[in-house]
Amino acid sequence: VDLSSSNTLRLPCVADYYAEPTTLGALRATLAIAHHKRWPVTLLGGGSNVLLPPRLTGITIRPALRQWWLTSAGNNVLAHVGAGVNWHALVLNMTARGLWGIENLALIPGDCGAAPVQNIGAYGVELADSLQTVQIMEIATGRTRWLENAECTFGYRDSLFKGVLCDRVVITRLVLRLSRQPAPKVHYGDLASRLPNAPTPLDVAEAVAAIRQEKLPDPRQLANAGSFFKNPIVSDQQGQALLARYPDMPHFPLGEGKTKLAAGWLIDQCGLKGVCEGAFGVHDRQALVLVHLGGGDRKGLLRFAGKIIDHVHARFNVRLEPEPRLVQG
Ligand code: EPU
Repeated sequence: VDLSSSNTLRLPCVADYYAEPTTLGALRATLAIAHHKRWPVTLLGGGSNVLLPPRLTGITIRPALRQWWLTSAGNNVLAHVGAGVNWHALVLNMTARGLWGIENLALIPGDCGAAPVQNIGAYGVELADSLQTVQIMEIATGRTRWLENAECTFGYRDSLFKGVLCDRVVITRLVLRLSRQPAPKVHYGDLASRLPNAPTPLDVAEAVAAIRQEKLPDPRQLANAGSFFKNPIVSDQQGQALLARYPDMPHFPLGEGKTKLAAGWLIDQCGLKGVCEGAFGVHDRQALVLVHLGGGDRKGLLRFAGKIIDHVHARFNVRLEPEPRLVQG
């Protein structure tokens, strides 16, 4: 099964077997077959945050659970959302209902089931801020259970699903706690200046979407996986030393002696914005995004990324780490 169009970087990839189960029962049956045949199982969502190998052995499963419903909980509304619901469609639907909580996360590509894995975040908000519980199915047994937010050990672009639960569970459903009370979070960048007084959640979602469209390439037009690197976290000491040399450097104190730097700025300062080499390039409006111009594969992309990592390390003594998940073949 050709998955080249099922990943937004459009890396060539062929899977031995592929399934899109639409119910928990069908997912459980698919996992049982894989178990019986001893096939390795690879999970895929919208393919917008993965680096796929040329060949995936065993079965690749994209959970297509698309049911969703709302329940009331005092001043809050709980959104129960299947893993296969498109994230941005959910944001538009909830914000159009006047519900607050995920409006800053507009236009993030991918499926809801993948959102907790890297704890999607943008414009000062993370999924973890509104996620109440996650339903998972164990790959080995087909058993489902629920995890509370606190059990998911969410961090910056991080969670238990990247750690001990990696390759062991399928995320099948999320429960999000949304609010009818106005709660705009608009302190990031120039977001506030783009909004009317007393904005609605839909106003915020539309402003965020407009900013993203100005900076980030549309994967349908130019293959990419959003930010290719995580913003590096360094000690306050190293941050201060860099600031002494580069007073304009964007930096965000995190507390506990840590400072987050802007990887896009570091790459930009190395003069790499807009640079292309063979099949790959650094996007010309946001240096944190690598684009695939066509004809390349994962090896080539990792080689290109390695050169960027080396440049930044040589200049700033900071080592960048790729953000998308390196899927094992
Ligand atoms: N900057 C540059 N040159 C560049 C890019 C950025 O100088 O080419 C500077 C900007 O001027 C700004 C700072 O770097 O001062 C930060 O830039 P920006 O606000 O664009 O955000 P980012 O840190 O580059 C992060 C997330 C994005 C998210 C935005 C907004 C990561 C790895 N990336 O990017 O997430 O949309 O903040 O919250 O944390 C993604 O993960 O795929 C993604 C797009």
